[in-house]
Amino acid sequence: MTAALFASPSAQVLLAEWRALAEHVEAGGGADALLVDAPYSERTHTGHDDAVAPSRLDGEEARMRRDARTGAVYSVGLNRRRAIDYSAWTPSDVGAFVSRWSPLVRGWIVSITDHELARAWEQALTAAGRYTFAPLPYYAPGSRVRLAGDGPSNWTTWIVVSRPRSRDFQRWGTLPGGYVLPAGQGGKLPVVGGKPIWLMEQLVEHYSRPGDLVVDPCCGAGTTIAAAMRRGRRAIGGDALEEHARLAAAWAANPNLPGPRGEATGAADPAQPSLFAPR
Ligand SMILES: C[S@@+](CC[C@H](N)C(=O)[O-])C[C@H]1O[C@@H](n2cnc3c(N)ncnc32)[C@H](O)[C@@H]1O
Repeated sequence: MTAALFASPSAQVLLAEWRALAEHVEAGGGADALLVDAPYSERTHTGHDDAVAPSRLDGEEARMRRDARTGAVYSVGLNRRRAIDYSAWTPSDVGAFVSRWSPLVRGWIVSITDHELARAWEQALTAAGRYTFAPLPYYAPGSRVRLAGDGPSNWTTWIVVSRPRSRDFQRWGTLPGGYVLPAGQGGKLPVVGGKPIWLMEQLVEHYSRPGDLVVDPCCGAGTTIAAAMRRGRRAIGGDALEEHARLAAAWAANPNLPGPRGEATGAADPAQPSLFAPR
């Protein structure tokens, strides 16, 4: 199913599986950068869902606590952890995604992923002819609690970044070697597995230029889209889940709000050429 839920000269959001979005972007002439936070591995999804329990929880009402014995800081709260409502990806899903999207992206491809799939992203991006960097840590202290109580919580996800091998990109500039979520920038996110707008604004700023067209084919609540719009980029997002795509459309309609609110209004024809016209 493909439907335009929001379209303006600076952003589009489609209810679309990534393959359908790729056709749309290809027809428009491609994108300048791709930022994606696609589903993680089966191990991460299973670990999350096994931990869906009513007692020690994350979310809006979470509070930071320190374990008196180990000194570890973690979050606890009153909310029930929500189950993940989309399927995990395998290395072959990653391979198919990268081989379809890489030729459509003129600049950086940035993927946020778990430690299990980071290697698959690295290999696929390199096989697509790109220069791929060692994965960057994204460290969000207190973001998850290991309810089994048998060892460390997982507070790090990995960002695999790759660029074309051309001269222009060799002169792009020196970028941070990782990201640490500042206190107060987390909070409850609109979809399970979503990322804070703070992180996505950093990545948009570092991996694209003003006026660029940024694409996120698994955009969830549209964090990348809102971040790109806030930073003066054009943006196009798609998600296969209607509930998520509708959130993204609502956020694209008001990107300066802290999150998606209500329904997007004024959905227009995504075939309008202006979004894809180079700036
Ligand atoms: C980790 S979430 C993205 C969260 C997003 N970065 C945010 O901050 O809200 C992954 C998203 O990928 C979507 N997804 C999974 N498989 C997909 C597919 N084949 N095509 C498009 N979207 C897909 C899911 O519905 C989910 O919204």
